[in-house]
Amino acid sequence: MILRMGSSAFLPGGGISLYSGVGRLFSQKLRGEPLPLFETTQILGSPLHAVYSLRCSEWNGKTGCENNIHQLSERNMIPADVEKALAAQINQEFSAAYNYLAMSAWFDREGLDGFAHWMQMQHQEENMHAMKLFRYLLDRGGKVELDGIGKPRMEFSGVKEVFETALEQERGNTESINRLYALAGNQSDFATKSHLQWFLDEQVEEEKSIEDVIALLERAGSDPSALLYLNDKMGGRTDQGEANQ
Ligand code: FEO
Repeated sequence: MILRMGSSAFLPGGGISLYSGVGRLFSQKLRGEPLPLFETTQILGSPLHAVYSLRCSEWNGKTGCENNIHQLSERNMIPADVEKALAAQINQEFSAAYNYLAMSAWFDREGLDGFAHWMQMQHQEENMHAMKLFRYLLDRGGKVELDGIGKPRMEFSGVKEVFETALEQERGNTESINRLYALAGNQSDFATKSHLQWFLDEQVEEEKSIEDVIALLERAGSDPSALLYLNDKMGGRTDQGEANQ
């Protein structure tokens, strides 16, 4: 929808905030300040995104401006299938977080507190991924459709099997991010592509860190002292971004 506003301004109901926003832009323009490309305002409780453009000219020493306001609904801001795929990815990240929490509980029961700690860090990291997408989708005016999270697997035959399960999960997540990235590209949704670049890089790190742990576990074999040494090392993980210490 495009609203044209000249001297006889048409304002939709509740458009006071739009009007004051335009007034501020006029002032900015007259002061020679750069104009923002996007402005977000609120009309009747519904978030709308507006692109303002001003065309100013001078005549007899007086400056006159006319402005156009392009209001874009949420649907115009983000393609519907990208919105849906992002919502599904949020669910996938929260599901991964829940799975890591279950793995942490398993390690704790096994008396391997270092591995349990590492998995808890991983749990927090996945929550952070979900929230990063959650915030992004809302910032784009999208609808976040939260879905249920399935019961995680709670039992494992050994330490290595836990990490093999984690690796399988990460590989699945990489495929999912790749599909999302391709979809955003097909829809010319460049902002989403840009946002997902961080996730693509993150997945490379995540897979490698788990592969490294599996390689160390294979070297440790059935030596209990080697396993306890690794347990100590895993307990030294200090932040969510450090996947392998
Ligand atoms: Fe958020 Fe480990 O993928």
